[in-house]
Amino acid sequence: MKPVELKKDIYWVGIVDWNKRNFHGYSRSPLGTTYNNFLIKDEKTTLIDTVEREFLDELLCNLTQVLGKDGKIDYVVVNHLEPDHAGCLKEIVDRYHPEKIITSPMGEKSMKAHFHYTDWPVEVVPTGSEISIGKHTLQFIETRMLHWPDSMLTYVPEAKIAFSNDAFGQNWATSERFADEVDRPTLEKRMAEYYANIVLPYSPVVQKTLASLAEMELDIDMLCPDHGLLFRGEDVIFATDKYMEFARQEPKNKAVLVYDTMWHSTEKLAKAIATGLVEEGVSVRLMDVKHNHHSEVMTEVFEAAAVLVGSPTHNNGILPGMANMLTYMKGLRPQNKIGAAFGSFGWSGECVKQLTQWLKDMNFEIVDPASVKVKHIPTHETYSDCFELGRTVGRAIKAKIGG
Ligand SMILES: Cc1cc2nc3c(=O)[nH]c(=O)nc-3n(C[C@H](O)[C@H](O)[C@H](O)COP(=O)(O)O)c2cc1C
Ligand SMILES: [Fe+2]
Ligand SMILES: [Fe+2]
Repeated sequence: MKPVELKKDIYWVGIVDWNKRNFHGYSRSPLGTTYNNFLIKDEKTTLIDTVEREFLDELLCNLTQVLGKDGKIDYVVVNHLEPDHAGCLKEIVDRYHPEKIITSPMGEKSMKAHFHYTDWPVEVVPTGSEISIGKHTLQFIETRMLHWPDSMLTYVPEAKIAFSNDAFGQNWATSERFADEVDRPTLEKRMAEYYANIVLPYSPVVQKTLASLAEMELDIDMLCPDHGLLFRGEDVIFATDKYMEFARQEPKNKAVLVYDTMWHSTEKLAKAIATGLVEEGVSVRLMDVKHNHHSEVMTEVFEAAAVLVGSPTHNNGILPGMANMLTYMKGLRPQNKIGAAFGSFGWSGECVKQLTQWLKDMNFEIVDPASVKVKHIPTHETYSDCFELGRTVGRAIKAKIGG
């Protein structure tokens, strides 16, 4: 993709990673992603962030298209040290010898640990610092733990642009650059997926950061995350409102039944519980972890009021696919969920007890009856218990969301 002039002398020089499916080793990105980075031509020409190392050649090509063959970069702003954004930093420093490499106080520590440099001209910019680059000013706001300690946002008041790094990002490879050029429901889905799998544990930080940005009364006319589509005009409010909504984690009238099964008994329980939930007017998702990546399950869990987890007993424990799922889910700290457990067993039958412990560890609200457990193959009576469990959870959802 060619560089795009976003505003006078401010360019998108990023990369579209069309075929990325495994994002950072833990999340599935079914529609690819982009690494957005930006170049401001001024008395001190400034590069904001880089891209993944494998796209170095494409980045250099983009920079040459804007700067010419002998163009120089005076300053590099590093909003975040994760390798999808700082992956080409060393090569940029070696090639362009910038006068300043600008980073947050936590960024300096992270930069040392990543690059082990001795003589880089690093300038540390705590919240409130600013640097003039000629016609433009760079103002820096730390966004600690959104989503790394080093993360920061760079604001350019003359252009009314905020470069927010991972915050407000979406994994979506597109030829379009702006949110107003793409399908809105898909955009919202991509935003929710990114939030659910990356930002969710830091929801309190999101709320605090949005509140302090509002207090600063920054006039933002373009909000540029480092992944996916950029927001301009009224879409800036759309994006910040969406984040406020995401951070509140208000549950929807939806239940996710996530399970693993060897011989399908546990799956039969899931289907019977789902029938009870549907009877109560709840929208249901049934997700076998063998057929649904844990990040796809998490995107559904994020919006759901209830999460029902199922596994047969396997070697006195639960199946590894569910252990993987629950480890992932717990780390993302979802809030405001109702939980229940179900599973089939053969002799010792630890599954439901262990699943329930996971739910308790995640502070899920456990309804009574909280589980269904069956020896081997479910009977008519088991299905009836499942149906009742579904209805109980359904009623609890209604009480929770005020339906
Ligand atoms: C390799 C293996 C290990 C198992 N380990 C246990 C166990 O430790 N305790 C138990 O109660 N059942 C155990 N079972 C029995 C299953 O829990 C039982 O077959 C159950 O009905 C399977 O449910 P599913 O149809 O949902 O896979 C084991 C089954 C297999 C195949
Ligand atoms: Fe990141
Ligand atoms: Fe990123």
